[in-house]
Amino acid sequence: MNILLIGSGGREHALAWKISASPLCDMLFIAPGNPGTAHCGVNVAMDVANHGDVIAFCASHDVGLVVVGPEGPLVAGLVDDLTAAGIKAFGPGKAAARLEGSKAFTKELCLEAGIPTADYARFDALEPALAHVYAHGAPIVIKADGLAAGKGVVVAQSLEEAEEALEMMFAGGLGQAGAEVVIEECMVGEEVSFFALCDGKTALPLASAQDHKRVGEGDTGPNTGGMGAYSPAPVMTATLQDEVMATIIRPTMAAMARRGMPFIGILFAGLMITDEGPRLIEYNTRFGDPECEVLMPRMKSDLVAALLAACDGLLANIDVRWWDDAALTVVMCGRGYPGTPEKGAVIEGIDTAEALDGVLVFHAGTAEQGGVVTANGGRVLNLVGLGPTVAAARAKAYAAVDAITWDGGFCRRDIGWRALS
Ligand code: AMP
Ligand code: GLY
Repeated sequence: MNILLIGSGGREHALAWKISASPLCDMLFIAPGNPGTAHCGVNVAMDVANHGDVIAFCASHDVGLVVVGPEGPLVAGLVDDLTAAGIKAFGPGKAAARLEGSKAFTKELCLEAGIPTADYARFDALEPALAHVYAHGAPIVIKADGLAAGKGVVVAQSLEEAEEALEMMFAGGLGQAGAEVVIEECMVGEEVSFFALCDGKTALPLASAQDHKRVGEGDTGPNTGGMGAYSPAPVMTATLQDEVMATIIRPTMAAMARRGMPFIGILFAGLMITDEGPRLIEYNTRFGDPECEVLMPRMKSDLVAALLAACDGLLANIDVRWWDDAALTVVMCGRGYPGTPEKGAVIEGIDTAEALDGVLVFHAGTAEQGGVVTANGGRVLNLVGLGPTVAAARAKAYAAVDAITWDGGFCRRDIGWRALS
């Protein structure tokens, strides 16, 4: 079967690598893809926001499955339009993607279904929001309701910080995303990302991962898309996984089905493991980036077979297996990230890194011309190490980092520190 993968990040290179290894995959197209995905299939220059173009491409290239990587096209309803055109597409439709697109929607669903999460209140004006903050005190969490590219959450340690965040959001600092604000109780514990594959009725647990969101070592400084990740997360024991499936994932599936929007796709739960048990921080409706870069190398089963089973409502019949080995990715970024990154510098040593035993390199924001790779974004390269322990995987990943020559590239040197301490 011919497959079209939508996206261009490190997540999509990892997905392209895994999809292209499937015996079910004939041709793999990636739109728009990146220089790394070009080694797994054929990159297609296409504006994926134009759903008519995507549908026409699928028809003319006999595409039997479309896999959508990022949240943007999901929230824009690409899966709905493909399905209406009779093309099989993996990922939630626009309605179900609200689990990621609207924090208020998710909080209401949790309340209705009794899913453990932080207590919350919603506001569309500054004065009552401030009154709520004064009544509850700090620390307290302020969130813009809509998608705000990772800038929509402020964990305020003081009342001043909370006031500042509310004033910024209601003054339009985040545009329409901040027109409505959710204020939450601050939960304390260890964070973990957990992924489940869903077909609308059945949810199959995949694996856990931990990422590092802050740009600086020791998890300090501004938030980023993710500076590194590892899987499995040691905190996620088999017992805890069962508890998460029973108290969070399955009740969410049931509540979505009751609302007439059965969830099909990847349910990515951001969890806080508190003293009272696992609680939901938020949902995403896709694979995480860079979490996907550590999940795909650990997956033993055929990803394409699993995605097709999810599209067809047949997950109850299948089983996804994992290698016991750990994987750890270090993200190399362009100087200036998460602000404006420097672009254009030549990156050398990728072949040397890839030739190392137990190493995979996944491209994100690179460009390539005549065999010369240059930096072309914020998060640029993923150096992934595999090994029997997180420590061993980490040693491989940093050996790969050290093989790269790139004036202007940087990475954190402490990815995985929590798992090792
Ligand atoms: P999000 O953008 O929703 O993933 O939130 C960013 C980060 O804010 C999360 O990874 C948590 O570290 C933190 N966070 C969000 N909500 C809460 C909460 N209710 N309690 C404590 N930390 C939170
Ligand atoms: N790494 C977090 C995310 O993909 O949202």
